[in-house]
Amino acid sequence: MDQFIINGGNVLKGRVEVSGAKNAALGIISAALLADGISTIQNVPYVDDIRVLLEAMKDLGVRIKNIDDHTIEIDSRKVDKLVVDYEHIKKIRASYYLLGSLLGRFKEAQVAMPGGCNIGQRPIDQHIKGFEALGAEVEVDHGMVKARAKRLNGASIYLDVVSVGATINIMLASVMAKGVTTIENPAKEPHIVDVANYLNSMGAEIKGAGTDIIKIHGVDKLHGSEYMIIPDQIEAGTYMIASAITGGDVVVENLIPKHMEAISAKLLEMGVGIEEQGDSIRVYAHKELKGVNIKTLPYPGFPTDMQPQMTALLTVTKGTSIVSESIFENRFQYVDELNRMGVNVKVEGNTAIVSGVKKLTGTEITASDLRAGAALILAALVAEGETVINHVDYIDRGYEFIEEKLRGIGADIVRKSDSKEKRQLKVM
Ligand code: UD1
Repeated sequence: MDQFIINGGNVLKGRVEVSGAKNAALGIISAALLADGISTIQNVPYVDDIRVLLEAMKDLGVRIKNIDDHTIEIDSRKVDKLVVDYEHIKKIRASYYLLGSLLGRFKEAQVAMPGGCNIGQRPIDQHIKGFEALGAEVEVDHGMVKARAKRLNGASIYLDVVSVGATINIMLASVMAKGVTTIENPAKEPHIVDVANYLNSMGAEIKGAGTDIIKIHGVDKLHGSEYMIIPDQIEAGTYMIASAITGGDVVVENLIPKHMEAISAKLLEMGVGIEEQGDSIRVYAHKELKGVNIKTLPYPGFPTDMQPQMTALLTVTKGTSIVSESIFENRFQYVDELNRMGVNVKVEGNTAIVSGVKKLTGTEITASDLRAGAALILAALVAEGETVINHVDYIDRGYEFIEEKLRGIGADIVRKSDSKEKRQLKVM
């Protein structure tokens, strides 16, 4: 299992480029399965979750070709299997999108219950409710979700909780249903809009993605198309914090500043310098930062996927900060690891009380999930001495070559690997 070895204390400076959004890519690549045609998808991030999804799609008969480092061609004209088994998909959450796509196109799907990061209970009742409203029969049997319909009919669906996954999945299942589907109380994240834009480029008729109500007029058929994935908001935010936590001065390039507003606003409140420059943001921290309170909320609120990284920054920020996690109930596991570096954080239920300390010290720590892993890296960047991070595989699921990008802006970080295979910049 790979490790990162980080020597803290370097002030980060320079420019770092953001890759395509993992969570948009997972939805878009799954959506390509709906077309009786060939799609070319650009700005695909080189991360393990994407590779797992592509392997699962290949197993269904879909042909995937690398065009260049970040561009793939997905030929879904021939699909000869409608079953996605556990072996293929156990590691990723977004396997459930194959359920929506297969059901939407073939009116039948069997997909193993999703895995993914262990950050709390992650039910899929809202996805199932949506499929049933469209006319599908859904059962969970021996770890498989089985969905089948004679035909899918448009329906009005109200989500009881704001769910990214359920919103995308219902879009996927309903784009070719007969009639009109409405999704009320949908998630509004940038990746919801990105998936809807891609579907529209394939011939779908979706209006209102990113607003309080999404309306989908079912069409008979979708064709392949060419599409470029948006930049990754969470990866961008992680590098913004890397600059802030090291007292650095970094330009984070290739992002959409609007998507960063909740993160930028909190950093500004702490005293971090933020300058928008077209599709880049310069982030600098030349003075002592002060603590702030954070509450995670669905977009446009502060993203739960940035909570661990922001908490890492608050551990070395003057004063007391309160971090409330309102999306997932088990998202403070990484605090035990940070405690070993000398932080002062008390977790009570879904709240962390963070008292800033003057210094952290390096030690051996272990990532417990993807964003927790990112938080540990950020803490290690300012810790005195060497930090060894175990279970880097979690981090590789969602960050493209994070060690190389951080080295490019001055961090002292190396990967220690057992594998002789060189990591290449290719999604397949
Ligand atoms: C997606 C993201 C993940 C992010 C999360 C919240 C992907 C692949 N993953 O996960 O990185 O942390 O959004 O922004 O895009 N819920 C239910 N029933 C359901 C579905 C969800 O109760 O059927 C609850 C969940 O337990 C959670 C909340 O709704 O408390 C939000 O979950 P959701 O938005 O669905 O998260 P994911 O789509 O799994």
